[in-house]
Amino acid sequence: MTKLALTGGALAAAAVAGETPAAEPGGKLRVLLVNGSPHMEGCTYTALNLVAQEIEASGVETEIFYLGTAPVQDCMACGSCKKHPGRCIWDKDCVNELIAKARTVQGFVFGSPVYYGHPSGRLLSAMDRAFYAAGDVFAGKPAAAVASSRRAGSLATLDAIQKHFTISQMPVVSSFYWNEVHGFGPADVMADEEGVSIMRQLGRNMARAVRAYAAAPVPDPVERKYTHFIR
Ligand SMILES: Cc1cc2nc3c(=O)[nH]c(=O)nc-3n(C[C@H](O)[C@H](O)[C@H](O)COP(=O)(O)O)c2cc1C
Repeated sequence: MTKLALTGGALAAAAVAGETPAAEPGGKLRVLLVNGSPHMEGCTYTALNLVAQEIEASGVETEIFYLGTAPVQDCMACGSCKKHPGRCIWDKDCVNELIAKARTVQGFVFGSPVYYGHPSGRLLSAMDRAFYAAGDVFAGKPAAAVASSRRAGSLATLDAIQKHFTISQMPVVSSFYWNEVHGFGPADVMADEEGVSIMRQLGRNMARAVRAYAAAPVPDPVERKYTHFIR
């Protein structure tokens, strides 16, 4: 039984999925916050920054990862990552960089603007490819979704993001209301007092979750069965 020797969040995830954990300098815990908006410092960033401030205040390091404005390829279902796990064959955008960052952290927050009632295409494409190519670097690590909208569509957006977590053994971190803010620009978000308070509580809860999962022993994995419904 090796699980008692596993104490860090990265180690926990590694044991879930057989991945070699990244070394953490000084044993520091880290959370990666992914900004799925083309606006580098827009509403989504403002919300993520509020979450990050609280995580940092709790002694856990953070990094905000901006997906940029360049096109993000969607999954081509080429199957290359099944032959070469941990890497997407499409190297012309940020997804392999995202995977590399994900290896070094123990928790995640994925944020998106609401576009026609769903997450941005760039965030969904990046998440689909990163999780499909390198699910083991996400498995077992706490995660939260954040949505920014002018008015409506946040719940469907959060739901779409969270589906990546709940198929990947990731504990979902929440706040005292759904993780949404509202506005067209950062000033609107900061004026959304309830949204601001939701983000701050989410940050505190995320820091706690990362610590708790880092300290918890990993269960022995169940032998997984694969079936489908046409035979
Ligand atoms: C293409 C597009 C579609 C949008 N669809 C919605 C929507 O369905 N519901 C909504 O409330 N806001 C919608 N918005 C507004 C943005 O979601 C909102 O202003 C968000 O806070 C912007 O976040 P950002 O500054 O991080 O990009 C849309 C904006 C764009 C550009």
